[in-house]
Amino acid sequence: MIYHDSQHRLWVLSGPSSSYVLHLDEADRPRVMHWGPRLTPEQAASLLLRLPRPGFRPVEDPLEGSFDLIATGGMCYGQAGLQVRFADGTRDLELVFTGQRRTDRELVLAYADRHYPLTVECHYRLYGDVIERHLVLRNEGEPVTVARADSATWVLPRMNGYRLGSVRGQWGAETRLHRTELPYGETVLTSRRGVTSHQANPWAMVDDGTAGEEHGAVYSCALAWSGSWRLTAQRLPTERVTLSAGAGHDPVTWELGTGEEHVTPVCAGLFTEGGFGAASRAWHDHQLRHVLPHAGEVRPVLYNSWEATGFDVSMDGQIRLAESAARMGVELFVVDDGWFGARTHDAAGLGDWYPNPHRFPDGLGPLIDRVHELGMRFGLWVEPEMVNPDSDLYRAHPDWVIHRPHRRRTEHRNQLVLDLSRPEVGDWLFRTLDELLAKNAIDFLKWDMNRPFTEAGPDERLWLGHVRTLYDVLDRLRAAHPHVRIESCSSGGGRVDLGILRRTDQVWTSDNTDALDRLDIQHGFSQLYPARVMGAWVTDSPNPFTGREIPLDFRFHVAMAGVLAIGGALTEWSRADLDRAAELVADYKRIRPLVQHGRQYRLLPPGGELSAVQYLAADGGEAAVLVHRRGRRFGHPDPGIPLRALDPDGRYRDTATGEVHHGAVLLTHGLFPDLAPGDYASALLHLVRE
Ligand code: GLA
Repeated sequence: MIYHDSQHRLWVLSGPSSSYVLHLDEADRPRVMHWGPRLTPEQAASLLLRLPRPGFRPVEDPLEGSFDLIATGGMCYGQAGLQVRFADGTRDLELVFTGQRRTDRELVLAYADRHYPLTVECHYRLYGDVIERHLVLRNEGEPVTVARADSATWVLPRMNGYRLGSVRGQWGAETRLHRTELPYGETVLTSRRGVTSHQANPWAMVDDGTAGEEHGAVYSCALAWSGSWRLTAQRLPTERVTLSAGAGHDPVTWELGTGEEHVTPVCAGLFTEGGFGAASRAWHDHQLRHVLPHAGEVRPVLYNSWEATGFDVSMDGQIRLAESAARMGVELFVVDDGWFGARTHDAAGLGDWYPNPHRFPDGLGPLIDRVHELGMRFGLWVEPEMVNPDSDLYRAHPDWVIHRPHRRRTEHRNQLVLDLSRPEVGDWLFRTLDELLAKNAIDFLKWDMNRPFTEAGPDERLWLGHVRTLYDVLDRLRAAHPHVRIESCSSGGGRVDLGILRRTDQVWTSDNTDALDRLDIQHGFSQLYPARVMGAWVTDSPNPFTGREIPLDFRFHVAMAGVLAIGGALTEWSRADLDRAAELVADYKRIRPLVQHGRQYRLLPPGGELSAVQYLAADGGEAAVLVHRRGRRFGHPDPGIPLRALDPDGRYRDTATGEVHHGAVLLTHGLFPDLAPGDYASALLHLVRE
């Protein structure tokens, strides 16, 4: 609900349990009066009576750090979310409020510069307690250089301390959670790679340093953008804290020409109580309700051939894998890299999206038919934003790649990035994939992006244009082929964000499929993103990436925490492993609705001997618990694992043993899963309310 008090120039944006209160001061600056627990309009208006008199400080604006829109200018010297330079060199913006538009869920506050014909609109949209915010800039004057146009600047209230939570990573080691006291000054999380990145992910959470998994207030924000981005967490000496996030990175600037408009992506903000667990559940819920296309669908159990075959793709080999996968209960069979053009290794073929004539002389049809006959859907890997210099596409269009004259050309993985900001490249991209999907009965694409930009120019045409074209092509393909589902991959988890999730159905979490490492990666992933999108494969042991040997059940029980998939060389698995795998796939299918659409409770984080995660059905009638013991130390017996959010008066039956537990006991003393002795023991428990 959005309420406006015109007398006090006050807006109250309220979700079911939070409110965001804005007040326009005498200088037309939108001051954040409150972001936190829900207030009535009357309570919100009373805040104006309590405004402390700013103390006298000769060299600073005492209100700095309390505005929802911060443009360069005046005596504000901190981080400004909006930074422009007019044609005459003026950098200060003097914004005057020009009006509002409002519905129950949407608010637009419009401003114009006092002198230059530049307007700025702040758009807010409420989804429960999530506020989506973006800017629209319009320029009717001479071209304006935009250095920064953040989608939102979130102003946090005064707290006793500030702790910043985020994820850091690398290839094969994505989304590892990190919490640290927010230092004074500006902490910048960013990607300058043209893609979301493995190194950082565009979200942040701030608490006062005392929140835990199940208690405490948490402020969080997440940017919906899949290119370069920047999120600045600022802590001023006055203890004011802001989180400001937008597309683009230093030092990229762009020109807003005469008559042009710039619409930023959205940045979503959320206040929650109930700890990090409640914050994560609210984010999951938001994505399942408002971000993901087809969120209500159950994601199928997938098989992917990459770790089994690498580039050694053949019709017979794929059919053998498909037959084995089908027997195991797999529902979607995905052929990875190596099926097209001259792609028998990573130095050729990218760009030539037709079946390799030696490997598939009759095209993909016979393989697709066989996969469908086996009762599975068919998926195919593509990396359409890229080109190998050794390809027909590059030979025909050498000028289509991102490059600068007089610069070296970095060929990471022997490939170059196509400049999607060029309209003819965007057209080619759509046409090529549209034709591929029209000619073949493909149900699923794994859309990869394996290298960041290098030697790219500093203008927005390229940095923003690439992502806009990507989004546009995805949108058009989805509209033209509504049955096709898409997985976002970028050397594993390099392109996971709320922007790509609006257009894809799941993501490839990491190229690292080692179950032990995955516990940490998945823990960090789950802070913002739901299990419903988290692709997780069971692969061979020893793991090809880490060399670690881990029993089959443990590998499955880790991968079951997301969208279960198999990625091993099945033709080399023992009969016993294949049979056990089929049982585990069947177990997963029983609990899958809870994992993919239930509420997630991180019971014990990875790191200790034992970790556990619980999924609860929306109606509370069923729960699934995955327990992992990574290593047993000193012969300690396993402690009980208290569950969450059950009805204390309810009785819950373990579907495997038939044993009935009291809710109150499970909530206090916990479950004692019957784990095998030793390292890498695991269990799945499925409880149904009687
Ligand atoms: C990337 C992906 C892998 C696989 C390979 C194929 O690394 O993350 O899953 O698809 O490309 O080249």
